[in-house]
Amino acid sequence: MTTLGTPLSAHATKVMLLGSGELGREVLIALQRLGVETFAVDRYENAPGHQVAHHARTIAMSDPDQLKALIEADKPDLVVPEIEAIATPMLESLESAGVVRVVPTARAARLTMDREGIRRLAAETLGLPTSPYRFCDSREEMQAAIDAGIGYPCVVKPVMSSSGKGQSKIDGPDGVAAAWDYAMAGGRVSGGRVIVEGFIDFDYEITLLTVRARGADGEIATAFCEPIGHKQVGGDYVESWQPHPMPTAALERARWIAAAVTDNLGGQGIFGVELFVKGDQVWFSEVSPRPHDTGMVTMVTQWQNEFELHARAILGLPVDTTLKTPGASAVIYGGVDAHGVVFDGVDAALRVPRSDIRLFGKPESFVKRRMGVALAYDEDVDTARRNAVEAARRVVPRAV
Ligand SMILES: Nc1ncnc2c1ncn2[C@@H]1O[C@H](COP(=O)(O)OP(=O)(O)O)[C@@H](O)[C@H]1O
Ligand SMILES: [Mg+2]
Repeated sequence: MTTLGTPLSAHATKVMLLGSGELGREVLIALQRLGVETFAVDRYENAPGHQVAHHARTIAMSDPDQLKALIEADKPDLVVPEIEAIATPMLESLESAGVVRVVPTARAARLTMDREGIRRLAAETLGLPTSPYRFCDSREEMQAAIDAGIGYPCVVKPVMSSSGKGQSKIDGPDGVAAAWDYAMAGGRVSGGRVIVEGFIDFDYEITLLTVRARGADGEIATAFCEPIGHKQVGGDYVESWQPHPMPTAALERARWIAAAVTDNLGGQGIFGVELFVKGDQVWFSEVSPRPHDTGMVTMVTQWQNEFELHARAILGLPVDTTLKTPGASAVIYGGVDAHGVVFDGVDAALRVPRSDIRLFGKPESFVKRRMGVALAYDEDVDTARRNAVEAARRVVPRAV
């Protein structure tokens, strides 16, 4: 049985988000609606989630001492990682000491913190189909790995990076040096280890949102959302839509892969399983043990969006992954480097039929920073996509 408390009282149910960007903000809102007392943590002040939580905390989440001190002081019932760059070994020790429960598990947070843990688990432990890959610590090693079988084209990524940072495609021997240098500049930590992956010439890629939630019988059951198609530019998502049509055989294969990975990672919550598809063939790419950026489309397409599903699942509540309508999302980038931008054209954007927008409230804009998202629904995905892109285009951030 799940019992929830009253926020700001002695018996509050307390949940701490580690990372309070646009995805964390929506999880916090979903938790607020259930009367959960929320703690938003980020490394800078006035992060999107800070603005909607009961308590805002600013620490370096990659520093184990700061993380431990904060969790011990605030005593949340649940800690929910929203980003990868967290001192996950400290979370593991706090979890095993019974101090806190980590969502979905501290081990899942550690394994998905860098590309190596999750790739080795998927490909080597679980035997799932992935691109061919090697981990390398120098340009020479990377060249040798390419020559020994990865071949061209291939993709290079720092093991610690997200949103396409430091990631590039190599088409031939001439591109190796530049790709290595780019990876070294773009990783989260210096001292650079990279993954080099054979390029998969897929027809399309999807995110399969997969939810592990407690059923009426008390057992954890796995539920799948409709596949989300998306378009990536330079390794960063720019558009997503749901549902993405798939042949039955490929969809079954995708669900089987997603179940295998999420069963192993365990715990309760939503996972964004990224898959490449060509015909009936499906490759595992990576997984987020949390809501996924491409899943923002579910704010318009599902009865319970991915943030509500996460909030419910982690609290032991039932979930419903049913699609409400086809729809699409399109990213609104900053377009300028500036603090405190204003957004022109919001009214024009909302005049696009069946559209909606979210502005994340980030205090500082960068040219390539995601500052908002446009959403649109329609009977057919193509119309929704066109309208989401048009609504996003009409919102123009401006430095003042
Ligand atoms: N081996 C690959 N073959 C083809 N495309 C790839 C490959 N690896 C990555 N990509 C493309 O780059 C995007 C981002 O890569 P991903 O590994 O998901 O990095 P991130 O963690 O930054 O999201 C993918 O969604 C896909 O479009
Ligand atoms: Mg990805």
